[in-house]
Amino acid sequence: MTKFSDLLEDMRRRQEAILNGGGADKLAQRRAKGLLTARDRLDTLFDEATFQEMGAHVRHSARHFGMESKNLPADGVVVGTGYVNGRMVSAFAQDFTVLGGSLGKMHAKKIVTMMEEAAKFGSPVVAFKDSAGARIQEGVDALSGYGCVFYQNVLLSGVVPQIAVVCGPCAGGASYSPALMDFVIMTRSNAYMFITGPEVIKAVTGRAVTMQEVGGADMHAAVSGNVHFLAEDDADAIRIVKKLLSFLPQNNSEDPPHRPSADIALAEDDGVRTLIPDDPQLPMDVRRVIEHIVDPGEFLEVHRSFAENIIVGFGRVEGIVVGIVANEPTVRAGALDMDASDKAARFIRFCNCFNIPLVTLVDVPGFLPGVEQERGGIIRHGAKMLFAYASCTTPKVTVILRKAYGGSYLAMCAREMGADFVFAWPTAEIAVMGAEGAVTVLYAKELKAAADPKAKAKEFAAAYRAEFASPYQAAAHGYITDVIDPALTRSTVALALRKALSKRDIRPPKKHGNIPL
Ligand code: HXC
Repeated sequence: MTKFSDLLEDMRRRQEAILNGGGADKLAQRRAKGLLTARDRLDTLFDEATFQEMGAHVRHSARHFGMESKNLPADGVVVGTGYVNGRMVSAFAQDFTVLGGSLGKMHAKKIVTMMEEAAKFGSPVVAFKDSAGARIQEGVDALSGYGCVFYQNVLLSGVVPQIAVVCGPCAGGASYSPALMDFVIMTRSNAYMFITGPEVIKAVTGRAVTMQEVGGADMHAAVSGNVHFLAEDDADAIRIVKKLLSFLPQNNSEDPPHRPSADIALAEDDGVRTLIPDDPQLPMDVRRVIEHIVDPGEFLEVHRSFAENIIVGFGRVEGIVVGIVANEPTVRAGALDMDASDKAARFIRFCNCFNIPLVTLVDVPGFLPGVEQERGGIIRHGAKMLFAYASCTTPKVTVILRKAYGGSYLAMCAREMGADFVFAWPTAEIAVMGAEGAVTVLYAKELKAAADPKAKAKEFAAAYRAEFASPYQAAAHGYITDVIDPALTRSTVALALRKALSKRDIRPPKKHGNIPL
């Protein structure tokens, strides 16, 4: 008969082998390169001693080609649940020291089981991606594994927040899993993500490119838009995950983690007035305006390096979690282009999935004119913003700071797009088009006949601004809730949000709308 102490000893031996991943040497090599191991990543993410592993003893099937003798601890992926600042999170970390973190049938099954449980228990998912892709030896079983993971990504979309941390290779079809998740954080060191890498591109197109050019974190953050947050290294990525989670509800049936302050009242903040240039043609730094609206230190910008002409991010206003969408007039005059429309629409839809109120700050001269934009489909892309705002049923508070022209006035959540409150500063200009453009259309003959056409155009533009583009015009027709002193922006938004939290917006049932893609 086997003694209990022998069984215990056997269990410890097995556990130790699993914790050792691909072996002490491989783990040490990673750490020497300044990289965290899969288990280090989860330990750093979770509150101390809260991680509960699942499926540590799962093994691949030896029937696959060349796999008979392979011992793959945890089958190359560490999976489980833990707590982040006291809130449950489901997570997995692919272990590159075990056959390159490659994904086989059982590796995928562990991930899928965890995701099914995340849906059942209503916990966010965090995925550390560090993998050489489909496990070649497992053939179609590996492909099927990817299919099952993608399917779960889609089932979970809008049910629990999903965050991918790309902290190693993520190549080929594997990159579609992060793309299906809500947020992608990518480390500058060690990580790359592409469908086809430099070698294939060279073979097929003859063009020589570097790994960084086609798959580096900086490229994805600034050019492709596939990455929402750039991280210096693993520790920085985990810091961003924690900050992001601090704004998100656990699932779609919960409110976000509001921390409403006890008393709120209308109060002035003189600092905002000083941000507004006298000349309406000079841009205003909207980031400074955001700083005055949110609680101190409570703003996390999303997609910062991509489509910089629009800013999106999470914040708190008197403790209420909000998603902020703001035109950035210092970049491309704040005009909406294809990338800005995609960026904002996706963010708005995330906020709608997870009951996060939206605050929209408007200073927009229009959609960006140009052949490239028209041929690229600005109509289709811009329509995403209209669709996203109109279908969003969370509280929506809009503040028109300065310009709000033409279609972009509507695309930035005007009353007609379902805004619950629309406030305007006295500096707001709401019109079909900008004053300079409008006068050249309306007064072409007069300008031609004028002794000094430039001076005359300026005079007409000032008159147009005062009469046709005045916020009081819009307010007189009921399109504006109120024209407010900029110094009251924060407190006005805070009071409006507090009121709108009990909002109910019931729509006719349908399978889903058909957003222009
Ligand atoms: C099985 C793999 C593997 C794979 C690497 N390994 N890739 N095992 N399947 N796909 C193993 C290696 O044999 C080695 O095992 C260990 O992992 C580490 O790999 P190295 O090459 O030594 O590491 P490194 O030099 O750092 O290079 C990493 C790498 C390279 C650049 C990722 O391994 C590589 O190019 N791998 C192939 C990548 C690939 O083609 N994947 C399939 C993509 S297709 P030992 O035992 O020596 O430690 C795909 C389709 C998905 O993923 C479709 C989804 C829809």
